[in-house]
Amino acid sequence: MGQEPVGEIHHDRSGIVFRPGLEGVPVTQSAICDIDGLQGSLTYRGYPVEDLAAHSTFLETTYLLIWGDLPSPRQLRDFEAEVQMHRRVSFRVRDMMKCFPATGHPMDALQSSAASLGLFYSRRAIDNPKYVYEAVVRLIAKIPTMVAAFKLIRKGQDPIQPRDDLAYSANFLYMLTEREPDPLAARIFDRCLILHAEHSLNASTFSARVTASTLTDPYAVVASAVGTLAGPLHGGANEDVLAMLEEIGSPERAGEYLDEAIASKRKIMGFGHREYRVKDPRAVILQGLAEELFARFGKDEMYDVARALEHEAAERLGPKGIYPNVDFYSGLVYRKLGIPRDLFTPVFAISRVAGWLAHWREQLGANRIFRPSQIYTGAQARNWIPGEDRPPSAGA
Ligand code: CMC
Repeated sequence: MGQEPVGEIHHDRSGIVFRPGLEGVPVTQSAICDIDGLQGSLTYRGYPVEDLAAHSTFLETTYLLIWGDLPSPRQLRDFEAEVQMHRRVSFRVRDMMKCFPATGHPMDALQSSAASLGLFYSRRAIDNPKYVYEAVVRLIAKIPTMVAAFKLIRKGQDPIQPRDDLAYSANFLYMLTEREPDPLAARIFDRCLILHAEHSLNASTFSARVTASTLTDPYAVVASAVGTLAGPLHGGANEDVLAMLEEIGSPERAGEYLDEAIASKRKIMGFGHREYRVKDPRAVILQGLAEELFARFGKDEMYDVARALEHEAAERLGPKGIYPNVDFYSGLVYRKLGIPRDLFTPVFAISRVAGWLAHWREQLGANRIFRPSQIYTGAQARNWIPGEDRPPSAGA
């Protein structure tokens, strides 16, 4: 593991304050998403996420995030039709995926295949609005197809082709589960995508903006963000939550598990957030969606464990402002929808592509390459030692 996080350190020479993890340091201006971590509110382009999750669709929300306003019915129809037209991926990409190790993580497969799209489309046109529109359409359209394809390819099967008569979310579930989803399941999944579409300057979005600031192509921007999202402190936490709930096993064990974890300074997965000091508003909605699904298709027994854990944690972690985040209930929803556990984070990526692309466009609109500074803490002025005179290095 890397260095332990440390508190504020003052730069010796210039007096600039170093804040580990850039906590509270603005690195850009943005008009895309606003979070009030004390009130627990989240808006995309000024619209509360609750309203979008209730009334919008993922593609409409994507349009809003990327182009700033809700589309007219005509604009939405055109956007949906374009996305539908570009859902298929080249046989070359599918063949490449067949060479990936079947045991590899689907996030690594997604990162590689997203980057590979850049091989097909010129990178020198990012200031051309037509190229930008087409790149947005391609990425929104093809990422779900690639996620579903790897799920079948790793089992030695051929991927299922997208179905033009199915809307975005229903088509993804169809390609993934190999059967047409129930309309309620498809709508709930679409609402999950809305909830995960954007969340201001988290680690992966920061990655996207840093990469965008070099003026590289949007496929590299998305690939770098996918790599960042994969880590267990970020998007990867949703997988770990289910493993943790299963380890706890029953609601009665929740308190004991928490005590042990807190005493040994282990993080509770799906809890805590840099921005929120209350329960994440997305976790509130996701919990409701989980209950809707359970009422229709039967309860997941881990739900009672999750609720018990949340209840017990309120007493122990609540005073520090640590409450369930978006990843706490999403895994239970995804499992009920038939999504395998190691695809939870790729599903998060399908949705977050919308936010990354919104930030890509915004970054290009007022670009300056990111180049922060550092505080050098290494050795000074060492003398060269010939190989035969050197003591062994303690490094490796
Ligand atoms: N369980 C127990 N204690 C926690 C947790 C947790 N999940 N999260 C934070 N704390 C404690 C931490 O131990 C520290 O305590 P102390 O000051 O006594 O040493 C204090 O709270 C501050 O923690 P931090 O790690 O410095 O906080 P951060 O803002 O750097 O990290 C976080 C935020 C999300 C990485 C962290 O809360 C965490 O690791 N949570 C678990 C992983 C998780 O659920 N990640 C998903 C995040 S939301 C979706 C996404 O972004 O992808």
